[in-house]
Amino acid sequence: MNNIFLIGFMGTGKSTVAQALQEVTGREIIEMDQELEKLANMTINDIFAKHGEDYFRDLESKLVLEISKQDEKIVSCGGGAVLREENRKYMKESGKIVLLTATPKTVYERIKDFNDRPLLAGNMNEEYIASLMEKRRDLYEAAKDVTVATDGKTARAIGEEILDKIRA
Ligand code: S3P
Repeated sequence: MNNIFLIGFMGTGKSTVAQALQEVTGREIIEMDQELEKLANMTINDIFAKHGEDYFRDLESKLVLEISKQDEKIVSCGGGAVLREENRKYMKESGKIVLLTATPKTVYERIKDFNDRPLLAGNMNEEYIASLMEKRRDLYEAAKDVTVATDGKTARAIGEEILDKIRA
């Protein structure tokens, strides 16, 4: 299995970098959040509001399992897709896991004008982003095969760096 999983905190550029990787490799992208919205037939905000986070995580885990049976995909993961151990295991078994990072300041600048992230609703500020990032740091680190910092880089440059690192 030869998938590329892009993991990392919200706003670390997973979707944009997936597109850059697609341009270089011609591979198909799976955008997890979009797939979850299709499966649930509602927005991510509505899934959290109507059914709660556990329901969202259950759907997310089912999707990770399905994706892990595929091959040669570029997978833009939701920021919390690595929270469950089973998800990390399925990802590891089916490809390379690339952790994208960015500082809380960069993340804030990238996502501050969007309101489609229920976990940050009412907490859209650098301090909260930094604290949630810190809580998740060990999980991201445990899951990843390689890390690429994204601050101040173009998506194309990040894509090239990823390919260099996973081929090395
Ligand atoms: C989440 C990240 C979001 C989305 C959901 C939960 C998280 O995806 O899956 O709002 O737990 O970090 P992005 O990382 O694409 O924003």
